[in-house]
Amino acid sequence: MDEKSLMSLAVEARKKAYAPYSGFRVGAALLAASGKVYTGCNIENAAYTPTNCAERTAFFKAVSEGEREFVAIAVTGGAGEEPAPLCTPCGVCRQVMMEFCDRDFRVILGNNEEIRCVTLGDLLPLSFSPKDLKGENTP
Ligand code: THU
Repeated sequence: MDEKSLMSLAVEARKKAYAPYSGFRVGAALLAASGKVYTGCNIENAAYTPTNCAERTAFFKAVSEGEREFVAIAVTGGAGEEPAPLCTPCGVCRQVMMEFCDRDFRVILGNNEEIRCVTLGDLLPLSFSPKDLKGENTP
């Protein structure tokens, strides 16, 4: 699956966003090492804090289906219509990614017209990960 195709699945997933409070709609498409893609959208809540981001929706769907290894995630989001501006994952989502992914995990940002690729290591330098608990992390 190439980066553009993964992004187009994120754009589709964004259409399902439940964001009545912020109006900021986000979609994600997560490619697992198995080859399967898990999509997600943000799901807001009247009590605000139970809100779940699109990226975590995709990760939790995948992990709950037994996936543990991942290749890339495409993320698109914004307040307006397509094409959405560049939306970068929040800190909590970066930490969730770090639980399951190496620093070279690809994060594809943008929309169907423009794509920017970074790595998880770019987004979360000097990270704390499961390796730290085993004394194996090398910053
Ligand atoms: N949001 C995401 O879904 N992913 C991000 O990476 C940034 C923020 C959502 C959470 C909330 O529903 C809305 O965008 C505004 O913060």
